[in-house]
Amino acid sequence: MYEDKLNEYKANLNSGNDKHFRAKHYLSMHALISQLENPTMLELGVQSGNSTKLFLNALQDSDRGTLVSVDIADCSTVASSPKWTFIRSDSADTDNILNHAPWLKDGIDVLFIDSLHTVDHVYKEIYGFFPYLKKGGVIFMDDVDSAPYAEGEEMDSFYVETENRQILNFINCVFEANMDRLDLSIHRGWTGLARLDKRSDFMTQLNEPKGLKVRQSRRMWKLKRSLKKRKII
Ligand SMILES: C[S@@+](CC[C@H](N)C(=O)[O-])C[C@H]1O[C@@H](n2cnc3c(N)ncnc32)[C@H](O)[C@@H]1O
Repeated sequence: MYEDKLNEYKANLNSGNDKHFRAKHYLSMHALISQLENPTMLELGVQSGNSTKLFLNALQDSDRGTLVSVDIADCSTVASSPKWTFIRSDSADTDNILNHAPWLKDGIDVLFIDSLHTVDHVYKEIYGFFPYLKKGGVIFMDDVDSAPYAEGEEMDSFYVETENRQILNFINCVFEANMDRLDLSIHRGWTGLARLDKRSDFMTQLNEPKGLKVRQSRRMWKLKRSLKKRKII
């Protein structure tokens, strides 16, 4: 099923930078899903179904696995499979999605986030669905790299450049506050792909994001260090 989509990405692996990285990111998700026994998957953001078709291919033709895809627009005709359920919804509306696909409450193996790329929206998606992710489950997130949107670059966009930078900062802050619950890796190239691996138990929540203090002045650091040494502060 959708073997052409898989072959398209495989062929793009040898292309120039942009297509190469996009293919590499998508094929890394495909490789993970292909090796799972009976995965329950949730995809947020469908559009023309590029990721949907690749995921359905990874679920293969046997009975294993299910994919639930969500989009605010009607994408119900972009793919077709007995393993696929499309839900038209705001992807931040966790309750609505869980009501329409109640089997997600038994545990999600893979969550792919690629809908509205704003910190506020991504926050609701990650924090809303993290409890339902199984221990060992994985969240993939597209659009965490601002490089292709920087000034003079191919997709030059002030809005997306700054938003993606804020999203990357947000993910780092989620990680800082939850190192006992998840691993984080960021794959650079093209629009980037973040991978969060859940280490905590099913139904555990995430702590609120925590930013590290960013030092601005070397002189202030030296002064504080000297005052601490002399036990003045
Ligand atoms: C980048 S596209 C998804 C691309 C797709 N995952 C792929 O790999 O081809 C983003 C999608 O998010 C959808 N979207 C935007 N805001 C949304 C929201 N609040 N809730 C759900 N989907 C939303 C858009 O309609 C669009 O189809």
